[in-house]
Amino acid sequence: MTLRTVKTHDEMGRVAASIFESEIRNKPDIVLGLATGSSPIPLYKELARLHKEENLDFSKVKTINLDEYVGLPPEHPQSYRSFMNVNLFREINIDPINTHLPNGTAADLKKECRLYDELIEKLGGIDVQLLGIGYNGHIGFNEPDDLFSNQTHVVPLACETIEANSRFFADASEVPKEAISLDVRHIMQARKIVLVANASKREILNKALCGDITPKIPASVLQLHRDLTVIFSEGE
Ligand code: F6R
Repeated sequence: MTLRTVKTHDEMGRVAASIFESEIRNKPDIVLGLATGSSPIPLYKELARLHKEENLDFSKVKTINLDEYVGLPPEHPQSYRSFMNVNLFREINIDPINTHLPNGTAADLKKECRLYDELIEKLGGIDVQLLGIGYNGHIGFNEPDDLFSNQTHVVPLACETIEANSRFFADASEVPKEAISLDVRHIMQARKIVLVANASKREILNKALCGDITPKIPASVLQLHRDLTVIFSEGE
C-alpha cells in the first residue's frame, strides 16, 4: 500500500488526478471505476482542467460507477447519474455511451445487477478503481456485513449512511433506503485502486488499513490488494 498524506482537499484531488492522468495517457481506452460523494469532487475538477488545458483525452475512456440509488430516475438531481454528469462527464470529452451506472429504476433489479456484472466482464474488468470510504467502513455501498459481497447487488443502506447522505436531500426521509452496489470482488479485481479520504475519516481509515480484515469493516479487505494508493487529506 502507498499512503500519500496531503494538506488540503484540493491537493488530494491534484495527487489523485495525476495518477489517473498517467493511467489514461498510457491506456487511452482504459476502464475507470468511479465513485460519487464529496471526496472525489476535487479530483473530478482537476480531470476537467487537465482535459481543457492539457488535452487529456477521454474519447475512448470507459467508466463504471460503483453505485446508484434504487428508485431515483437518472434525471433526478440527487441520482448518481446526475452527480456524474454535472461533476465530470459534461466537463470532458467522454462519449456518454461509454459511461455506465446501474439503473436504479429497472423493473427487475436482480436482472439489472446481473447485467452490470456481465458488462464489467465484457469490458475486461476495471483498470483503475476510485474509492471513498464511509464512516462505517463501507466501500461503494458495501455496508458492514457477515460476508464480503461477490456480485453486484441491491443493498439496504445502513442508518448511518442514510444520515450521512441526507445532507444532499431536503431531509433524511427523502434519502432512498436501498441502492445497487458493485460488489467487493469486482472492486478487488481492479488492477489498481485509489482511495481518497479527508480528515473526518481518520479513525475509520486507521481501523480499515491497520486492523483486522473483516466484512464488518468492508474497506479492511483493501489490505489484501496488491496496488492500493490511499490519498489522505489532513484538511476537511
Ligand atoms: C459513493 C460511494 C461511497 C462514498 C462514501 C464516502 O459512490 O461509493 O462509498 O465513497 O460514502 O462518501 P463521501 O466522499 O461523501 O464522504
